[in-house]
Amino acid sequence: MKHQDLQIGEDGGLRHFLSISGLNTELLVRILDTAESFTGVTEQAIKKVPLLRGKTIVNLFFEASTRTRTTFELAAKRLSADVLNINITQSATAKGESLLDTLRNLEAMHVDMFVIRHADSGAAHFIASNVAPHISIINAGDGRHSHPTQAMLDMFTIRRVKGPDFGRLRVAIVGDIMHSRVARSQIHALNLLNTGDVRIVAPKTLIPANSEALGVHVFHDLREGIRDADVIIMLRLQHERMLGALLPSEHEYYELFGVTEEKLTAAKPDVTIMHPGPINRGVEMDSEVADGSRSVILEQVSHGIAVRMAVMSMAMHRREETPE
Ligand code: NCD
Repeated sequence: MKHQDLQIGEDGGLRHFLSISGLNTELLVRILDTAESFTGVTEQAIKKVPLLRGKTIVNLFFEASTRTRTTFELAAKRLSADVLNINITQSATAKGESLLDTLRNLEAMHVDMFVIRHADSGAAHFIASNVAPHISIINAGDGRHSHPTQAMLDMFTIRRVKGPDFGRLRVAIVGDIMHSRVARSQIHALNLLNTGDVRIVAPKTLIPANSEALGVHVFHDLREGIRDADVIIMLRLQHERMLGALLPSEHEYYELFGVTEEKLTAAKPDVTIMHPGPINRGVEMDSEVADGSRSVILEQVSHGIAVRMAVMSMAMHRREETPE
C-alpha cells in the first residue's frame, strides 16, 4: 500500500503521519492552523488540555535523539496522554527479538499510538502496515527518507515569521541534502505550500542525482544559492550516514559552504536563519549567525511541541469519529 493510502482515513483526516509526500495542501494548512491553536497551551500556567486523556502513547526510538523525543513527550503530556519512552537499543531487539514481536507485545498492552524513529528508511511505513487497526503511527524520522514533523515545525516557523503567503518566498536549503530526511520532507512541504522559489545549495557530492525533478533549483555556490533569500535552512553534515569520503575536510567545507555574517550579505537583509539541530558550530555555520538576531533556531524547537500536539491529536481524533 502507498503512504497516502495508509496515512489518510476514509474521512480525509490523518490516520498515520508517515511522510509529507502523499498529503495535500489543505491537510498541511490544517496541521499548521491546529498547531497555532495549541501555542497558547504552552504559555498557560497549567500547560495541559484533556484531548488525549486516557490514551497511551509509546515513543519507540531505535536511534538516538534529544529534541525530537523530548518535544514528542512534552506534546503528549500537554494533551494529557500517558507516555512511555522506550529506547530500543537497550531493550528487547538488543536481545534478538524481532521488530514485529516487540510491536505485538506493546499492542497487547493496549497502546493507542507509536511515535517511531528508526535508522532504516521505510521503517515507520512497515510498522504502520503491520499494526492493529486502532493504532496510529507517527514517523519521527526514518533513515534518509522522511522526517515529517520536523518539516511541519519548520513550515510553522516560516509562516509565523514571514506570513502565510509562501508564494513570495525564496527558501534556500544549504548543506548535506544527500543524507537528509529533513531536506526531503521540507522540499515536499514547501512545494505543497506553493513556495515561490525552493533552492538547494551544496557541493556536488552532497546533492542526490535528479534533484531538479523534486521541483527545486540546484546551486553549488553558496553566495549564488542564497542570493536574495528570505529564508535559509542549514543542515548538519551527517557523517554517520556518509559512506566513504565525500568531502575533502570540514575546514574546506566551512570555507566554501559555512554560513558567516559576511556571506549572508548576499541574502535579503531580513533573512531568517533556521537549522533543525544539532548544530555543528564552525562547520555549517558560524556562532555569530547561529546566535544572531535573525536566527530562529530555538523558536523552531518550541514550535515542535505545538506542531506535534497538532499531529497527534488529529490522528487520534479521526479514530474517535470512525470507531473500528
Ligand atoms: C535531524 C534528524 O534527526 O534527522 N534532527 C532533528 O530531528 N532535530 C537532523 C540531524 O540529525 O541533523
